[in-house]
Amino acid sequence: MQITGIESVEFGAPDMAEARTLFSDWGLRKAAAGGAGSGFAALNGARVVVRPEQSRALAPRVGKSNFREVIFGVRSKRDLAEIGEELSRDRSVSVAADGSLHTHDDADVNIGFRIWTPKTGSAERVTRFNQPGRRDRLDRIGTVYTQAQPYQMGHIVFFVPDTRAAENFYRKRLGWWVSDRYAGEVGVFLRWAAKSEHHNMFLLKSRSGSTELHHIAFEVNDVHEVFGGGMSYADKGYVTDTGPGRHPISSAYFWYFKNPLGGSIEYFADPDWVTEQGWKPHNYTVNRFSEWHLPDGLPENDGTPGGGASGKTSGKTSGKTSAKRRKALKAADKLERPVPMPGKR
Ligand SMILES: [Fe+2]
Repeated sequence: MQITGIESVEFGAPDMAEARTLFSDWGLRKAAAGGAGSGFAALNGARVVVRPEQSRALAPRVGKSNFREVIFGVRSKRDLAEIGEELSRDRSVSVAADGSLHTHDDADVNIGFRIWTPKTGSAERVTRFNQPGRRDRLDRIGTVYTQAQPYQMGHIVFFVPDTRAAENFYRKRLGWWVSDRYAGEVGVFLRWAAKSEHHNMFLLKSRSGSTELHHIAFEVNDVHEVFGGGMSYADKGYVTDTGPGRHPISSAYFWYFKNPLGGSIEYFADPDWVTEQGWKPHNYTVNRFSEWHLPDGLPENDGTPGGGASGKTSGKTSGKTSAKRRKALKAADKLERPVPMPGKR
């Protein structure tokens, strides 16, 4: 059984127009959804699907939010058949018209499985970094991102009442791997293959005792796209949950925004990749959420030394970039020239 990725997540939306804007502003492209739904795809084809919240095509709510279902890609019909056979031993598994399977895990998260091959090739972009002893970027400036283009949905995170029971389902029934844990069954990082990103799912103990979506996470090209994409999203008026920052567990850079449909939504870059042979799971006893992070986005900045108008975060806006700065960045991107400092030509 081989998971090819998170194929899609589905949300119910009280206001479809608002939901569509939310995900197109995030940098996803229009994609098929079927029925009255709207789909938005990352570069590898992974989709966010939104449907009117009363739609009968939606799975029931998971917890209080409008998150409805996560669907994992699998390689073949044989994989689907194996999963169907295994899971139907102790729960009902329905088969949709397109052959996808739909059921729930042991924390009552609605999950599905669909044959899906992620797009590769043109979806992959190379970042050239210059390091001591290794100069990979010559005669060109580094890319300036004025809008993120998420590559894939790398992981999904839930609050669950019993992390051990939830872990056992993925590990024992679907063959997933533990990458790291928090002691006391506070949290567990799981991946779906022996060699994979550090985590494809993180399960956190819920204080309320209910299951809730915590966040969905989109991988972008590099740390610059985390910052550039985050600034652009903040500039459109979306509210930072936490970030930017860096996780010591998984090493990834991150920026989380609040998702009005449920949980939050994350840009991340440069996660650890781990293997069966080389990685030993840790059992962390203290919270290691961040090496560093800003709680509320970047301060306002017009690009001048010292931070422009105030150099301080307002507390209300998050990561807002001035129109002047955005224009300069766009021009710099187009011309592949540095942004001129005020007063200098
Ligand atoms: Fe994350």
